[in-house]
Amino acid sequence: MTLKLKPLHPLFAAEAGGVDLRKPLDEQVVREIDAAMDRHAVLVFRGQPLEQAEQVALARYFGPLDAGLRKATGAPTRFNYDELIDIGNVALDGSVAERENTKLIGVLANQLWHADSTFQDVPVKYSMLSAVVVTEEGGETQWADLRAAWDALPEKTKRHVEGRTGRHSAFHSRIGLGDDKYTDEQLKRFAPVERPLVHVHPGSGRKVLYPSVHIDRVSGLTVPEGRLLVAELLEHATQPEFVYTHTWRAGDYVMWDNRSTLHRGRRYDLTARRDLRRTTTLERDAVRAVA
Ligand SMILES: [Fe+2]
Repeated sequence: MTLKLKPLHPLFAAEAGGVDLRKPLDEQVVREIDAAMDRHAVLVFRGQPLEQAEQVALARYFGPLDAGLRKATGAPTRFNYDELIDIGNVALDGSVAERENTKLIGVLANQLWHADSTFQDVPVKYSMLSAVVVTEEGGETQWADLRAAWDALPEKTKRHVEGRTGRHSAFHSRIGLGDDKYTDEQLKRFAPVERPLVHVHPGSGRKVLYPSVHIDRVSGLTVPEGRLLVAELLEHATQPEFVYTHTWRAGDYVMWDNRSTLHRGRRYDLTARRDLRRTTTLERDAVRAVA
């Protein structure tokens, strides 16, 4: 066993060491990381500063890469690779983005509980964030363990939720934040997707409660009933006992499984420079719905 793991929370999340992520990974280490992800869902690697090319090469070990919402918006990037997703507040010219820069809407939307890209046809698997510049205060990322959330759900609520689907829309939470200037063309390119509110996590075989701010409707319920149910489930799933909070240091590299966790960023001073870069892999085996 090359990978060294140290739990960071009673339920999930571990610090991982014993491997240099800038060097090519052998198959055995990739398998160990996959196994650790199935168990812990969030892995924190400290002291792994990555160049753009290193970050893209590293992510590719874990599946084909996704380019995120840029596919729909066509927004320009400051990176050399389309597969690097910008999670900071740095403008294209390298300065800290002005308050009114529309790029910040996406950054702010990340502060709502979600799993990445659940609104697209091909579901995603892991996301990986590399911290290049972090703020002195705020900007923590939190993850919630959705397997533990399912286990702890009252039986009556389990029965109410199981078998239902949520409609995930790329624009629902952004429109809710006042960002409503999308063209029909953009809206069409990311038509909403139905996903089960409960699924089985393939790697651990455990059931997962799967609410998100991206859900705008729930099957079999009226729009307000569905939105209230999602709010109730989010409140349940993100109770402190299910949540791990990560305080960033430059050089941190954090991987998480979007099929078994939710996450959100915390508020920070938008005039302070923050440069975090994400890669996300696509799911090869579709998530199995619970009948
Ligand atoms: Fe995210």
